Amino acid sequence: MAQPRILILGAPGAGKGTQSANITDEFDVEHVTTGDALRSNKQMDISDMDTEYDTPGEYMDQGELVPDEVVNAIVDEALSQADGFVLDGYPRNLEQAEELEGMTDLDVVLYLDVSEEELVHRLTGRRMDPETGEIYHVEYNPPEDPEIEERLEQREDDTEETVRERLRVYRENTEPVVEYYDDQGTLERVDGEQAPDDVWESVKETIESTA
Ligand code: AP5
Repeated sequence: MAQPRILILGAPGAGKGTQSANITDEFDVEHVTTGDALRSNKQMDISDMDTEYDTPGEYMDQGELVPDEVVNAIVDEALSQADGFVLDGYPRNLEQAEELEGMTDLDVVLYLDVSEEELVHRLTGRRMDPETGEIYHVEYNPPEDPEIEERLEQREDDTEETVRERLRVYRENTEPVVEYYDDQGTLERVDGEQAPDDVWESVKETIESTA
């Protein structure tokens, strides 16, 4: 199989980052993630773009979407350098979905389906290892090594208030994107509420049978 071009959709906390890490290992593709790219550029000066705020970080810390102009440029550049990829965090509205059609074709469109209460629980309990970027959860997936546990950090937008706002923005802007691919008949639904290894089994099988 040539390196697949995979889009992974799902609400905040659905497990896109967790499953994208498995996909990159198994299928030898690039992980193109707008969330990580923007977190590395939170202080970038975008004041000349006629935007409401002067940096991406100001949008992110409130759970709002960063303007399309900024994100489209990041994705276009990253996809032009990748043969196969798993795209995570984009498109987040219909305008971005249309933009993506002009950038590349997709072999698989995955959707991780998870209920809202579970999403809140996952995000407020998520912790990151700042040294390795590894994702943990205080209850579902705590680190065994006490030294790692000691240095774990919570993402600034994982407080309950910002999580609720991110979910509202998701319902308003990104659910129509899920419907858009569903209407095209390309959406592959995966039950994202299973244990992480079982979600991975389903994701892997879906990619192998679709790509
Ligand atoms: P982004 O970083 O993309 O955040 P997100 O979409 O909100 O997704 P998350 O990373 O929070 O969740 P995830 O689905 O990856 O879950 P994870 O695997 O970590 O975006 C952040 C911000 O950037 C946005 O709010 C916006 O401002 C901006 N932005 C990004 N893209 C943009 C765009 N295109 N346009 C405009 N603005 C944009 O899992 C979550 C937790 O659950 C972890 O603790 C994990 O251990 C646990 N977990 C995972 N799977 C399971 C399971 N099966 N069972 C139990 N626990 C599990």
